[in-house]
Amino acid sequence: MTKILLLGCGNMGGALLKAWAANTDHEFTVADPANPDLPEGVSQVGSVEELGEQVFDYLIVALKPQLIDDVLPAYLPRLSPSGVISSIAAGYSAAKLAAHAPGRSVIRIMPNLPAVIGKGVSGLYAHGAVSENASGEIERLALCSGEIVWVDSEDMLDRLTAVAGSGPGYVFEMLRAYVEAAENLGFSEKDAKNLVLGTVRGTLELALQSDLSLEDLRKNVTSKGGTTAAGLDALNGKGEFSAQIRDTLEAAYKRAVELR
Ligand SMILES: NC(=O)c1ccc[n+]([C@@H]2O[C@H](COP(=O)([O-])OP(=O)(O)OC[C@H]3O[C@@H](n4cnc5c(N)ncnc54)[C@H](OP(=O)(O)O)[C@@H]3O)[C@@H](O)[C@H]2O)c1
Repeated sequence: MTKILLLGCGNMGGALLKAWAANTDHEFTVADPANPDLPEGVSQVGSVEELGEQVFDYLIVALKPQLIDDVLPAYLPRLSPSGVISSIAAGYSAAKLAAHAPGRSVIRIMPNLPAVIGKGVSGLYAHGAVSENASGEIERLALCSGEIVWVDSEDMLDRLTAVAGSGPGYVFEMLRAYVEAAENLGFSEKDAKNLVLGTVRGTLELALQSDLSLEDLRKNVTSKGGTTAAGLDALNGKGEFSAQIRDTLEAAYKRAVELR
């Protein structure tokens, strides 16, 4: 049986663990001094000493990045000689993880928030020589919480973080502004939220089910001289919305590079 040690089990680690425990038959142990609500069958220790002589096939880091340097080294001896390090931490490079454990395989997983309801998009990056077995195992775990995209460099993982990792934040902000604008047109807060979230959900589902491009879908809903055309002209008539989205992703990517 595959033995996995999850180091840190907070919001994201805990949500992923629930999906992993429900969809695999691996043996999971959590190392976290807090008292997380764990799925049945998962063991917990509060310190490395409590692990005794146990060894694990995978050590998955789900700590806040600023704690990794202090906490990870004590747990590394508990990884089997062929064991693999994985990490969901944003802003902590695979190269830094590998520096803690020279010669080890390292695979980063970059989930995004909807992973907590099984609808995330995770980026995966294998650093150095990683066996097919190990990358396949981490891929199966990542698929438990939604879709995956493999990238072949740490730089591309930073770019993916700017698009998908930070993406839920942009979407929440767009939704908030859309609801605020609906309220401004005279709707109550509740009605504005229902109108906006219902419109966005329906439009998203339609886009996912359709074979048409996003541009064609937009053209099909925009009659010349109509209300949608007037709204779109205000939104992006001179490409200002496109430019703002481009700047948003570039700013997030720049920050990811600074945090490396
Ligand atoms: N949340 C997201 O949307 C998201 C998305 C992508 C990636 N990530 C990454 O996921 C990682 C975890 O984020 P999170 O939101 O789950 O953070 P979190 O809720 O703070 O979880 C971290 C957990 O680690 C525990 N911990 C603290 N010190 C420890 C130690 N010495 N040994 C073992 N465990 C310890 C914390 O316990 P205490 O609470 O008691 O300190 C907490 O339960 C971060 O690196 C983040 O970059 C998060």
